[in-house]
Amino acid sequence: MMIVNTIEEVRNLIKGWRKEGLSVGFVPTMGALHEGHQSLMERAVSQNDRVVASIFVNPTQFGPNEDFEAYPRDLEKDVALCKEVGVHVVFAPQGEELYFPDKATTVHISGITDVLCGSKRPGHFDGVCLVVSKFFNIIQPDRAYFGQKDAQQVAVIKRMVRDLNYEIEIVSCPIVREADGLAKSSRNLYLSKEEREAALVLNKSLEFVKKALDQGERNASILKAAILSCIIQEPLAKIDYVEVVEMESLQSISGDINCPILIPIAVYIGKTRLIDNITYAV
Ligand code: PAJ
Repeated sequence: MMIVNTIEEVRNLIKGWRKEGLSVGFVPTMGALHEGHQSLMERAVSQNDRVVASIFVNPTQFGPNEDFEAYPRDLEKDVALCKEVGVHVVFAPQGEELYFPDKATTVHISGITDVLCGSKRPGHFDGVCLVVSKFFNIIQPDRAYFGQKDAQQVAVIKRMVRDLNYEIEIVSCPIVREADGLAKSSRNLYLSKEEREAALVLNKSLEFVKKALDQGERNASILKAAILSCIIQEPLAKIDYVEVVEMESLQSISGDINCPILIPIAVYIGKTRLIDNITYAV
């Protein structure tokens, strides 16, 4: 496995692979890798001749009061995991390699970014779309892998790929969870022992609502109220949002459900903001 830090190096490697007719898979990450990231890489390795994983804590997707500085970084450990999984190249751009100091271009996907995390984290998806489109242009993969854990991110990237005619298949991978149900996240590292226990309320509330759906409940407002009542029982939890939305458009549903849905939630546990979701095809 190779570790490259410059755009030129990664482009040259990929040009060589293309000459040999090899397919290329791409897994973008911000590092602090765990089994969730690993599952994306394993899928990419199984479906492509060569796999590039990027490790880059992207400053443009963090708000001024968010955790860019504190975001966990452990390149050595991350590189070891990539190697173990069979990734061929780790692309870890450093310093100003990726962004010109006088960069003037933005990538804004409207509508679908105005809701859920987009409305709570202004500018977040502009930063995600900018960095992902740069990676797509540099790497030009056949397939790129994203986790359903960040369901809105998947929807936004799919829309960007469609609207900008990227010839890239977006592969969405299921949420990987801890044994007790907590969705794996690099931000789980911030949780104290007590908060870690409290964080189970996210998955528990979603399990609860899934049962209601299985039993035939189809009213979105009732389902939403059920989640809210579950979460407020946890004193360390503060709700950021709970929604029932149409799977593709992310439009909110308030009445009866008659299409595939996404139920995304964002909850602060202490100072740490966690997200989770379920999808359901009625
Ligand atoms: P990051 O948070 O590092 O996540 C990288 C990828 O791993 C994302 O596609 C995310 O959805 C996926 N992932 C994280 N936890 C997961 C879990 N428990 N199960 C399955 N997949 C999981 O998302 C980003 O980085 C950035 O926004 C990025 C796309 C790299 C752009 O900077």
